[in-house]
Amino acid sequence: MTFCEYRPGLEGIPATQSSISFVDGQNGILEYRGITIEDLAQHSTFLETSYLLIWGGLPTEEELAEFEHEIRYHRRLKYRIRDMMKCFPESGHPMDALQACAAALGLFYSRRALDNPIYIRDAVVRLLAKIPTIVAAFQLMRKGNDPIQPRDDLDYAANFLYMLTEREPDPLAARIFDICLLLHAEHTINASTFSAMVTASTLTDPYGVIASAVGTLAGPLHGGANEEVIMMLEEIGSVDNVEPYLESCLQRKSKIMGFGHRVYKVKDPRAIILQNLAEQLFEKFGRDEYYDIALALEKAVSDRLGHKGIYPNVDFFSGLVYRKLGIPTDLFTPVFAIARTAGWLAHWKEQLGENRIFRPTQIYTGARNAPYVSLEKRHSAHDESLLNFVTS
Ligand code: SDX
Repeated sequence: MTFCEYRPGLEGIPATQSSISFVDGQNGILEYRGITIEDLAQHSTFLETSYLLIWGGLPTEEELAEFEHEIRYHRRLKYRIRDMMKCFPESGHPMDALQACAAALGLFYSRRALDNPIYIRDAVVRLLAKIPTIVAAFQLMRKGNDPIQPRDDLDYAANFLYMLTEREPDPLAARIFDICLLLHAEHTINASTFSAMVTASTLTDPYGVIASAVGTLAGPLHGGANEEVIMMLEEIGSVDNVEPYLESCLQRKSKIMGFGHRVYKVKDPRAIILQNLAEQLFEKFGRDEYYDIALALEKAVSDRLGHKGIYPNVDFFSGLVYRKLGIPTDLFTPVFAIARTAGWLAHWKEQLGENRIFRPTQIYTGARNAPYVSLEKRHSAHDESLLNFVTS
């Protein structure tokens, strides 16, 4: 069978079959294993939802307790990982640190027994347990401090905030952070999940799978947008500057961060919940100075670009929540990675169930049978267009 049509970005082309999550982009619906995210955000926790995504059904009380216990048990890092992190430059981006550490975990737990359910469970638990510890440790270590050991009496979200801020978090803040993790846990075959699946399809170890997904999530068109949104709001600076800023972006054809989506043509349902969570935090801890700018920008973008289906995506309001929780801006994407590890692992496991290596085809546009020109007769083949490399 040959498909000849080329679609940039593989838009609309199914690359797998999956029963993990479902998105209806016209009606703003997202379900994990058939359960709406609104229901999960109201009733579930990040770890229970991770179990649902990875193992295919909600856990019983006993199963959940065991899963939570295993994750608590594996939260600590080997001192060699911490020693390795001491050598990282403090100016380095935390996503690069996380990617390096995720890959480094494979040095310690490298036994690649992909047909052994105990190995699969072990990798799931270790990755979910250790990724938050790595992110928090990097934050403290780049400030010159020792990392804080995880606390067994705190649940997943509260423990992360504690390891990061050195203070036990307010219960509302911890619950809201847990919901944020749950909302970011999975989203069908997005770029980083696809990257995880391609890597998984070679039957490499799960630490390499997660490391490749972290690298993909980091880009500003994907998970990196949450950090860029705050930088954009900072640059806009005031409600009065929203219209001129938008106008200048549209003229330069540059993207407004936190807006637009390949699948959603309405406001992302996660953005709606995140906005609500932000407002709950503002009510208790004070309004964020950027919130009014964000609201004005949402209105201006909807007025100008709504006809193209461009509305806030998951990254637009999440940063405002994280700021209130005391999370530094360059940790927003690592926080996304903590959450999305659940989805990546679910797809890794699903991929292994019916694996075939990803190996698409291409439409070749280059020369054929070109002559080999000897060195002294060559002219520069340097491509001028590379000099005008466009990032937007
Ligand atoms: C995530 O895929 C997932 O599920 C991802 C994610 C997940 O949970 O895993 O939801 C998380 O990655 C959210 C997206 C975060 N990225 C951003 O916020 C960056 C800004 N957004 C865009 O660059 C863009 O909307 C994408 C990357 C999200 C989607 O890119 P597409 O589908 O390739 O769309 P496109 O760039 O081809 O745009 C289509 C049209 C263009 O206009 P026309 O040329 O057709 O006239 O929409 C315009 C674009 O110019 N457009 C925007 C815009 N996004 C799209 N115009 C201005 N600002 C924007 N943000």
